[in-house]
Amino acid sequence: MFSKLVQRRSLGALCTNLRASMSSAGPVATESSLEEALNSDYVFDREAKYGAHNYHPLPVALERGKGVYVWDVEGRRYFDFLSAYSAVNQGHCHPKIVNALTSQAEKLTLTSRAFYNDVLGEYEEYITKLFNYNKILPMNTGVEGGETACKLARKWAYTVKGVPKYKAQIVFAAGNFWGRTMSAISSSTDPSSYEGFGPFMPGFQVIPYNDLPALERALQDPNVAAFMVEPIQGEAGVIVPDDGYLTGVRQLCSAHNVLFIADEVQTGLARTGKMLAVDHENVRPDIVVLGKALSGGVYPVSGVLCDDEVMLTIKPGEHGSTYGGNPLACRVAMASLEVIEEEKLAENAQVMGELLRAELMKTPSDIVTDVRGKGLLNAIVIKETKDCDAWKVCLRLRDNGLLAKPTHGDIIRLAPPLTIKEDEIQECSEIIHKTLLSF
Ligand SMILES: Cc1ncc(COP(=O)(O)O)c(C=O)c1O
Repeated sequence: MFSKLVQRRSLGALCTNLRASMSSAGPVATESSLEEALNSDYVFDREAKYGAHNYHPLPVALERGKGVYVWDVEGRRYFDFLSAYSAVNQGHCHPKIVNALTSQAEKLTLTSRAFYNDVLGEYEEYITKLFNYNKILPMNTGVEGGETACKLARKWAYTVKGVPKYKAQIVFAAGNFWGRTMSAISSSTDPSSYEGFGPFMPGFQVIPYNDLPALERALQDPNVAAFMVEPIQGEAGVIVPDDGYLTGVRQLCSAHNVLFIADEVQTGLARTGKMLAVDHENVRPDIVVLGKALSGGVYPVSGVLCDDEVMLTIKPGEHGSTYGGNPLACRVAMASLEVIEEEKLAENAQVMGELLRAELMKTPSDIVTDVRGKGLLNAIVIKETKDCDAWKVCLRLRDNGLLAKPTHGDIIRLAPPLTIKEDEIQECSEIIHKTLLSF
């Protein structure tokens, strides 16, 4: 605290000098460099003034994170129950991942794929052996992973399955969320994602989630290339399908020569209590999309795993990204995966998830109408009244030291870093109880 004050005071002195030395032709001074103390309101106002209004953040201004905790600019500490939408599975600023980032950053960060680099192959070997696929195609964000999977599916449909040129169809499940690009919103059933952004990508169709007969009907069309699905729908509000759904998807896709694409960007990497959520049913998709926690939250890293029959349909020059597969990303991804294994995060997520749900079930049902989830990907559904809704609950959770965010109105996702321990789950459950009972 003292050093922070000193820092702020010296920043103040610096600002005075800055003001004195600034001429109209001088360097741009941001308003923050002229501020003596950064407070939350200032952070909110500055973002509102200079940033696009494409998000509606919970009013809390964070400046530091460690493990399951984050601190705001006033030094208040919170449990992070969002984990950056499951990107921070390994906990904030995990030392092994940060060390991988900083040591590689001093050596070589980006070569582009115009040249080879000495880390990409090591990463490719590591991750493909870990997940038992022939190859990986590295990208950066989750949505690029989904785009890559769709492109692979179309190319495979034309060159292997024999679908007539440009007739390929990709089937999605209602309620899906895989990002914000034109393709991703073209498969969306959420008006806040697609409304106002048409025209949309052709060749996409949507069927109900968790509905095997609907999938079977859709797969009668011989031009279907793939079915892309989240094993648990995260953004839709942690919708867990019936046991056997993923097994049924696998069987139907195999029977109709259709690729099963598992979007594991949110559910993968130990979040649901297994390394991949499809492991709960021991099914092997044809294509797996990973992102988010592949970097432990320090850097955007995504990737698509599949076997040669699909991957090698894309030839040199037909797909890629300047940053995809850069040495920094590869080192970070390897460290992130090692942490998941070394710290047994899948096992911990499984056990802590059961404990958390058991605690949440004790909440009076006139406030919480449903508790659901797998591992540490969970949600509670709030009964809306004139005094109580999910946003208000999240504001009060924040006041009580826990950060969570509503998804789809009345649903609050509860997804802490997978490093959380039993006593912390107990403490957080008490915070959640106390908060809910205060309404
Ligand atoms: C299942 C799923 N797929 C893809 C994405 C997109 O990832 P990104 O935001 O990194 O593009 C998300 C993001 O929330 C997601 O939940």
